[in-house]
This record gives sequence, C-alpha cells and structure tokens, in this order.
Amino acid sequence: MKVVVLHGSSRKGGNSDTLAERFLAGMGGEERHEVRHFYTIEMHVAHCRGCGTCGTAASPETCAIRDDMQAVYPAFSQAEVVVLASPMFWGYMTSQLKAVFDRLEAVASPQHFGGKDFVLFVTYRHYYGSMVEWLGRIATAFGSRMHAMTCQTYDPETDRDVPIANFPDRLEEAFQLGREVASVERAHQG
Ligand SMILES: Cc1cc2nc3c(=O)[nH]c(=O)nc-3n(C[C@H](O)[C@H](O)[C@H](O)COP(=O)(O)O)c2cc1C
Repeated sequence: MKVVVLHGSSRKGGNSDTLAERFLAGMGGEERHEVRHFYTIEMHVAHCRGCGTCGTAASPETCAIRDDMQAVYPAFSQAEVVVLASPMFWGYMTSQLKAVFDRLEAVASPQHFGGKDFVLFVTYRHYYGSMVEWLGRIATAFGSRMHAMTCQTYDPETDRDVPIANFPDRLEEAFQLGREVASVERAHQG
C-alpha cells in the first residue's frame, strides 16, 4: 500500500509522531508498505500566493512555485492512505502543516483526494475540534474515508503536559487503527 505521512509537529518524535508510528506498526510495519514521510518542520514550503495558475498549462497538476512541495504532489496523489499527525497550535494545525495544505490547493479535486483513507492524529491540551471538523468536511466533499484519533497530553489537575508514552491504551488504540485501516484498504482493493 502507498502511504504518505504528513508530520505537522515541530518536535520530531513527539506526541503526534508517536501516534503515527504506532499506527504504521499496526498496519504491519513500514517494510510491508511504501511509506513516504514528510516532516513539514524541515521542509521549504512557500506560502500559497493565490495566483490561480494551478491546473493550467503553466503548471499542470502542480503549483507554479518550485520548492519541496514538488515532491509532495506525486506522493500525495498516488497514496491510498494519507496520515496527518499534528499537535494543536493556537486552536488549529501547526502553521508548517497548514502551509502544505494551502499548497495542496493545486490538486484539490476528487481525482486526487477521493477514495483515500485519511487518518488524523491530533494531540492537544484543551481542544481538538477544529481539525476534526475540517477533515470531516474535506472527506465529505471529495469522497474520502476519514479516521480520527485525538489524545489529550495534559493533566488539568496538575496543569502539566504529559508525554504520550504515559498513555499506553491510546498507543494501542493507534496500533489497532492501523490494523483496521490496512484491512479496510485490502477489502477495498478486492
Ligand atoms: C506554540 C504552542 C501552541 C499550542 N496551542 C495549543 C492549543 O491551542 N490548544 C491545545 O489544546 N494545545 C495546544 N498546545 C499543546 C500541544 O498541542 C500539545 O502539547 C501536543 O501534545 C504537542 O504534540 P507534539 O509532541 O506532537 O508536538 C500548544 C503547544 C505549543 C508549543
């Protein structure tokens, strides 16, 4: 299976990355799939300029801006499973992941988004709703399947962040989601 993981965190190996890692293990491990990781914090991705030339002869299928997004477009379009792993930052995904999504405007069609399994991992202190609602609307609009798992990494009683390793049940949940998505995809492929 072709899998793309868009890592939104500023902390490689942090909470949201760990959920994605458990998910991939549940899918059967990276050796069984063609997995492409994109660590958005390490990428050079310019902001969308809204120039409106996407899909025209000037830049068919992709974007007029030439940067690290040019590697994302083909991987994203060919992927059967797209994993989005992000912490909440001021009520939404991180700005580095948002920049990538803004640039995916160039392939915003059922042809590129439809039929995929989108898997969302959100880690947060207080609030996760905006991201789940956002992806739900995308899945409905483009005919994709959506799976979402959110995890609070904060203890309100002590007012402290808690590392995801302290939640083995949630890590197991991510693993089981990987198994489920792998079997849904296999069934889908017949
Ligand atoms: C700059 C910044 C902004 C944050 N904003 C929010 C927020 O708006 N809502 C929330 O619930 N958590 C917020 N958090 C907490 C993180 O989402 C949380 O610690 C998350 O588990 C970190 O995941 P990571 O290890 O994958 O980066 C914020 C953290 C930082 C550093």
